[in-house]
Amino acid sequence: MVPRRSFRPFSAMPGRLFSALLAGSLLAAAPALTAQSARLVAVDQHLMVNADSGSTPWWKHAVIYEIYPRSFQDSNGDGIGDLNGITQRLDYLQSLGIDAIWISPCYPSPQVDFGYDISDYEKIDPQYGTLADFDRWVAEAKKHNIRIIMDMVMNHTSDKHPWFVQSAASRTNPKADWYVWRDPKGYTADGKPIPPNNWISGFGGSAWQWSPERKQFYYHEFYRQQPDLNWRNPEVEKAMFDTVRFWLDRGVAGFRFDAIPTLFEDEALRDEPALGGTNAQGDPNLSDIYTNNLPEVHDVMRRLRKVADSYPGDRVLIGETYLNSAADLNKWYGGAHHDELQLPMDMQVGFLNRLDAATFRTRITDAETKIDGNQPLFVFDNHDNRRSWDRYGDGIHNQQIARILATLLFTTRSTALMYYGEELGMVTSTPTRKQDVKDPIGITGWPREKGRDGERTPMQWDNSKDAGFSTADKTWLPIPDNYTTVNVKTEQADPASLLRWHGQLIAMRRQNPALHDGEITMLDENNPDVLAYVRHTPGSPAVVVAVNCSGEARTVHLSLASLGISASTAKTLLTDAPELDKAISLGDVTLPAYASWVASVQ
Ligand code: GLC
Repeated sequence: MVPRRSFRPFSAMPGRLFSALLAGSLLAAAPALTAQSARLVAVDQHLMVNADSGSTPWWKHAVIYEIYPRSFQDSNGDGIGDLNGITQRLDYLQSLGIDAIWISPCYPSPQVDFGYDISDYEKIDPQYGTLADFDRWVAEAKKHNIRIIMDMVMNHTSDKHPWFVQSAASRTNPKADWYVWRDPKGYTADGKPIPPNNWISGFGGSAWQWSPERKQFYYHEFYRQQPDLNWRNPEVEKAMFDTVRFWLDRGVAGFRFDAIPTLFEDEALRDEPALGGTNAQGDPNLSDIYTNNLPEVHDVMRRLRKVADSYPGDRVLIGETYLNSAADLNKWYGGAHHDELQLPMDMQVGFLNRLDAATFRTRITDAETKIDGNQPLFVFDNHDNRRSWDRYGDGIHNQQIARILATLLFTTRSTALMYYGEELGMVTSTPTRKQDVKDPIGITGWPREKGRDGERTPMQWDNSKDAGFSTADKTWLPIPDNYTTVNVKTEQADPASLLRWHGQLIAMRRQNPALHDGEITMLDENNPDVLAYVRHTPGSPAVVVAVNCSGEARTVHLSLASLGISASTAKTLLTDAPELDKAISLGDVTLPAYASWVASVQ
């Protein structure tokens, strides 16, 4: 089930604990890549695609790479990543084939929520560098054909932001109505103020925080240090849109809007219905009908889109949109009007969290057929969820399973969003002792909720000190034990590595016309274990993709007759199954357990 809000995935305790156990056993097993575990076949150079025609926006075929700046590359030895560090690593990102970086917040922040609590929207946090470093990074990235996408948090600010400091000072100041302030419902017998309603924070406890100065509560969807802005006040929209313009003027290619479905709350403050039971923080499970995905947000999105469209260069608006269906997602595009976000994230495919060919097929088909021709954006990993390696892996076949996920991400028609380290098979390294936890929800929720540190550990570059991430004696989060084998340098040298697999897929997607821009048609649609489809475009050979989601060999029936393709053989482009590394007769094709196969129809 897709979580109702961004932070829900890691509160689904049984799954989390289960996979954490699997991850532990996997680490112990540390399966070395064998030469025969992947057979890579060179990309067909003669099928090179030229740059997209002028009318196709760049983001439509893009690979977007999320960087958590604290954890990518430390250039000054303080144990924390920074912008100059990212600049140093642009050659690597270019060689991987990415088109854009989405950087998690790097603005000044008290770092309660590691940057998602912003105290100044128009500067860079000194931990990460300066605006001059930022400008140099953007310029260098451009030379590497890489665009920069900023994270933009519009739902809330830090409680240290001057807007909130002023707002909290009195009920009459000019910003008094910039946040969601309400009188108490009453007082207890011993004089304690009672919150206005039953709403809970996604990060634990009541969503209402008492302010002794104002003698009122303010609302916070997330930590109490993250007060929600009042989007019913037009001045708030104006101020936020000004910050959006500030970065667009500086040349960024777009934004990823954080927690964007939670901008509005029910004006009447109705209690949310209880669903029964408690969550990882010990709070009652509530429906979120009055705090999440309220219809008012779409007017804001349309106005925001107008701002982006007033700039040249196809600036892109991406949304963090955990929603339950393609129909819900479609509203975030503006449906057939195409006038809201260009790329609200589809979390249905990537956060299915089980290797289930039939459900993948349904959800990919939904993304093709139920969003009015808008462009899907698939994502399997981010800084809020246990890594896909552990969510999908069974502890034994994680390498092959990771190849399946990458194959789906890069060979469907979707724009691809990936997270640093995903290309290496970095594992979730959840702290084992409460005193080591950095993410506050892992402290308040311990041991049911251990927080998000595990998916935020430093990038593993090589097998030197600190995995090449830093020279500090202590990095902000520890380097996972497996860095000596799971790292960029080692994997670059190994033709069978997961990193090389990613590079091959990304190159094929760019160069092969059918994979680049072709339609997608599902094949053998009732096959419960093998997900298979063909990408096809006039004038170029079609490409068949098949992944076996089961632990046993399975046969898939590949008939292209309904597409008017009469070919009888396919030439393998990429596979991790040695027995498929040859010309294959179409019809019934048998894939070994967890095999991935991509082939050009002859
Ligand atoms: C989003 C971010 C998450 C953050 C939350 C509050 O879900 O991805 O990291 O904690 O919003 O800003």
